[in-house]
Amino acid sequence: MERLHPEDRLIVALDMDKLEEAVRLVKRLVPIGVRHFKIGLNLFTRAGPAAVEEVHKNSGRVFLDLKFHDIPSTVAKAVRAATRLGVWMMNVHIQGGSAMMRSALSAAQEETQRASQKTPLLIGVTVLTSMAEKDLLDLGLRKTLKDQVLYLAKLAKSAGLSGIVASAQEAKVIRWTCGEDFLIVTPGIRPGSKGDPFAPGFQAGKDDQQRTATPSEAIRAGADYIVIGRPILEASDPAQVAREVLQECAQVQ
Ligand code: C5P
Repeated sequence: MERLHPEDRLIVALDMDKLEEAVRLVKRLVPIGVRHFKIGLNLFTRAGPAAVEEVHKNSGRVFLDLKFHDIPSTVAKAVRAATRLGVWMMNVHIQGGSAMMRSALSAAQEETQRASQKTPLLIGVTVLTSMAEKDLLDLGLRKTLKDQVLYLAKLAKSAGLSGIVASAQEAKVIRWTCGEDFLIVTPGIRPGSKGDPFAPGFQAGKDDQQRTATPSEAIRAGADYIVIGRPILEASDPAQVAREVLQECAQVQ
């Protein structure tokens, strides 16, 4: 795979309630080099496709993080609709199964062929980064967390998906097993404290994210993209935090 530019590695999660707030942030971050923005359940439920259009209008690319998980025909229809919005990346839950993933992929490919546009990257969610070992037991799963993530990553690869969402803690083994061209997207990123980019995540364990890492830890472990929401959104100067993250990404290249 082509080497990514440091600015391309950061995906900022637009997890706010109001579209105007999201647009304001996009307008502040695009000029400093941020290109990728994630629209998830909250903003999409509130603002709908207009949120995608606004990011596009401001020269950003959209990762539509709606984590589709339903029967194959329903997911295929949703993927068609998302593809029509022209998003750069979208995702499904791998636990929806191989047939569901294959339907999703065919839907994206057919829809883009019809419109002669580029097929969006379709990636699969392994185990949410908010979950720890005990949460798998709670669900009745007997595998260790790492084994479960790896098992799901391999399933996504054999269904033809472009990559997966996992925590940085599993990135190394996924990269090793699934190869260089398989995309690894890692949320749960907690930048180090100011002045020491390699310090352990300062917010680790302080919110719902369990499997955290700093940007440099994630990239060194093999992540292609890092997803950051609250550490940027809740900062007094979001652009400054984003700038520091981009610098940190450039240092580990
Ligand atoms: O605020 P924070 O940096 O924790 O945001 C992480 C973002 O990544 C959230 O929008 C969350 O929905 C998303 N995400 C995640 N874990 C996954 C997939 C997506 O945290 N496995």
